[in-house]
Amino acid sequence: GVEDLQLEEYSFGRRSWLYKYRGFVFPNMFFHQIRDIHTFDVREDDIWVVTYPKSGTTWVQEIVYLLMNDLDTEKASRTNISLRFPYFEFMEPGLKTIAEMPSPRLIKSHLPLSILPNQIKSKKPKMIYIVRNPKDVVVSYYSFAMKFLNVVPFNGSFEDYCQLFVSDKVDYGPWWKHVSEAWQRKDDDNVLVLFYEDLHLDTHKQVKEIANFLGKSVTDKEVDVIVKYCSFENMKLNNSVNYEWMKDAGVANKKVQFMRQGKVGDWKNYLSADITKQLDEMMATKLPPDLFERITDS
Ligand code: A3P
Repeated sequence: GVEDLQLEEYSFGRRSWLYKYRGFVFPNMFFHQIRDIHTFDVREDDIWVVTYPKSGTTWVQEIVYLLMNDLDTEKASRTNISLRFPYFEFMEPGLKTIAEMPSPRLIKSHLPLSILPNQIKSKKPKMIYIVRNPKDVVVSYYSFAMKFLNVVPFNGSFEDYCQLFVSDKVDYGPWWKHVSEAWQRKDDDNVLVLFYEDLHLDTHKQVKEIANFLGKSVTDKEVDVIVKYCSFENMKLNNSVNYEWMKDAGVANKKVQFMRQGKVGDWKNYLSADITKQLDEMMATKLPPDLFERITDS
């Protein structure tokens, strides 16, 4: 139900709203379909990639897509990722379209595990969750929301944005609550929790792990094909994963590219000492200790 829904307003030059629901904050688009999200028919053979935004979703989606489609890179490059691997709670293509897709469906979501469809618990579809250091997440999120997108009603500075992030007031947050919920389920058979930083460190090994989880046997040569096709340099040149359609739809800036830096530790070039300290404190106090230990903070 929507009984827990609250409207939260904050002001940075212009007025902005987020909807608070079951301890998380969400953008407007989510609010209109909470009931449909909860009652969505899940299938056992669905494959879900779930993340807090800007944690490497697109990278893992592309890896999963190739593994599930016989490494057909030609097919992958021909169609927008938004159609091949739809964003569950987004208006395009929308829940109704996803409900009619043939199996096995590949579905991306940024919803926290506790707010995904109720049937996730009983149908237990395979779910891959990716964690990324929140310092890099906030830099990436700001760039995406304020530079790539041109529709976010926020006039504050980067520092203001970071302050909202540490105050749990950025969409899909609190970050720590989102990742902690997934971490609790890391030992479930149908759940695989990965780290963006590990993907960087040894992409080959991580691709094998994903293949293994999905029950796909691949040779080392095939893994190499995937690693190469999904490298940052290649994905930067690939329109089907750069959300170019958002530019045509007028909601993204033509001069900015979705694939930004693709690095670990880029936060050092941007975050103030104060924000860094607050994020360190947040991680140390709000994360389960064993998850806190796993966060690469280089
Ligand atoms: P940066 O903004 O730090 O560059 P998401 O897909 O969840 O929105 O995450 C986007 C982030 O993942 C961006 O981070 C993007 O550059 C990075 N990314 C996407 N594809 C990548 C790849 N193949 N290798 C490394 N990083 C990648």
